[in-house]
Amino acid sequence: MDVGTAIRTRRSVRRYKSQDIPEEVLREVLEAARLAPSAANRQAWEMIVVKDSQVKKDLVPMCKNQKFVAECSVFLVAIEDPAQKWSRVDATIMLDHLTLEAHEKGLGTCWIGAFDKAQVGALLGVPPNKEVMACMTLGYPDEDPEARPRKPAEELIYYGRYGERQ
Ligand SMILES: Cc1cc2nc3c(=O)[nH]c(=O)nc-3n(C[C@H](O)[C@H](O)[C@H](O)COP(=O)(O)O)c2cc1C
Repeated sequence: MDVGTAIRTRRSVRRYKSQDIPEEVLREVLEAARLAPSAANRQAWEMIVVKDSQVKKDLVPMCKNQKFVAECSVFLVAIEDPAQKWSRVDATIMLDHLTLEAHEKGLGTCWIGAFDKAQVGALLGVPPNKEVMACMTLGYPDEDPEARPRKPAEELIYYGRYGERQ
């Protein structure tokens, strides 16, 4: 799958098959994350890969009761370092790389922004000087969601100067 197709056909997936991800496939998806660009190449992010079923169940109430958190094969927890200026951006780009590589491999992802940082951090042993930035579900899709609408380009993109449309 080329990058353009991956960008245009990726969807947030919230229903997953109970099918394990082969280790080699998971490694390649994580490798795409590792290769993401970062500020001054500092790679100021870390990530926890959660596979344990009980831990995923425990995470559901910490993620606003989003049940599919327990149903995905792997739950990813991206960690930022508040002491590093671009850490959140680094972690965000890393996760976005991961979504596209996962999609190319037939896997689905969904960002999880609705969660309790303190609870998730405590459960997974995140040290006090680091912070959970965002989470993500990963697994084989059991749904084929429609594309969600996007704002028209004129509302989002200006040329040369703020507010100027071509
Ligand atoms: C930072 C961020 C946080 C999100 N948090 C959640 C979430 O907690 N639960 C959820 O179901 N979807 C979440 N989403 C997914 C968005 O709802 C989804 O990306 C958006 O509706 C566009 O749909 P698409 O990804 O299928 O194109 C989040 C997305 C982003 C980028």
